[in-house]
Amino acid sequence: MDKAVEIGKGLYYVGIKDYDRRVFDALVPLPRGTSYNSYLIKAERSVLIDTVNPGFEQVWLDRIKEVINPQDIQYLVMNHAEPDHAGAVPYFLSLNKKAKLISSSQGKNLALRFYGVAEDRIIVAQDGDTVSLGDRQLRFISAPMLHWPETMFTYLEDAAVLFTCDFFGFHSAKGLFDSDFEDIEFEAKKYYGEIMMPFSAMGKKAMDKIKGLNINLICPSHGPIYQNPQRIVSLYDKWVSGRTDEKVIFVYVSMWKNIEGMVDRMTDKLLAAGVKFGRYNFLNSDPGDICADLVDSRAIVFGAATVLSSMHPLGIYAANLVRLLKPPAKYAVLLSSYGWAESASKEMQNIFSKMQFELVGSKITNGPASEQDLKEVDALTEKLMQKIKE
Ligand code: FEO
Repeated sequence: MDKAVEIGKGLYYVGIKDYDRRVFDALVPLPRGTSYNSYLIKAERSVLIDTVNPGFEQVWLDRIKEVINPQDIQYLVMNHAEPDHAGAVPYFLSLNKKAKLISSSQGKNLALRFYGVAEDRIIVAQDGDTVSLGDRQLRFISAPMLHWPETMFTYLEDAAVLFTCDFFGFHSAKGLFDSDFEDIEFEAKKYYGEIMMPFSAMGKKAMDKIKGLNINLICPSHGPIYQNPQRIVSLYDKWVSGRTDEKVIFVYVSMWKNIEGMVDRMTDKLLAAGVKFGRYNFLNSDPGDICADLVDSRAIVFGAATVLSSMHPLGIYAANLVRLLKPPAKYAVLLSSYGWAESASKEMQNIFSKMQFELVGSKITNGPASEQDLKEVDALTEKLMQKIKE
């Protein structure tokens, strides 16, 4: 997308497709790149909604110029202060000395600190505040902690367009509308798992707030614009509520296939019973895929070997990632193995004790699992299947 696109009456997509970006948050791979969606509303008083990642300022400005003289823009709305959406705020405000920045009150603090915006150029939007564009009107909806404290939504009243920044987004440089994707669910779930799941309670509040709002178009700041908002709204309704499926996620680190042998035994049994599962050897898995399967799994089976008298460092990383993401799973099973001095299980239990899971059981093996060990793994699997069906 290398041009401004009119996506509604007087509403233009002026965002950037970053086809080459390959990692986000120094954490999740981006196999399809991402986009930094910015929108321009042409009106008697014109407005930009969000900006773009640093490095794309000039191409963004050129796109805006296809539609309007940037000096004729009166307002710049900052729904979220993270640099991928607000990084070009100082650039724009230095070019257009008259334009005002509209943000939440927390957003104002961040605009002052992160972007050096002069205080007299900031208009603070409280929940429900409106700003007249002359022939059109914007309404601001407070939606904090999605996933920073200052986040808010902007609603273009006459066209029923909701601008949600990160919320409802996903990482892809491809396409412009949801109809350009065969299936939005997995990509949206990956994104939700990493960015929004730790703040699901605030996500639920935001969802409650927009219930009843007439919405023709949802314009997030990553990924496609939703011409069929109901699909993504119903997915988020499920995810923010913490409703899970009869499904197990396996995340493990195995050195000599001792952990992996137990995982094989468990997944064979689940497969035979028709129970869904996601299985991730942390060494060669995409953390984004793990984020996605954590969103709706009812149980987690976590395994890590002992190495150098500690839980394997990748296991420590994986366990802490699970803890930070706050998945809604109810049950956990822990697997560990050792050669001569067991220590992984204690560290694992220590990390998992800080989470809300009911520990269904654990299994430690000294080297490869014996026949007796595998019988115990079978019993543990049966118990887990019963639990997730309750
Ligand atoms: Fe896409 Fe929180 O920035």
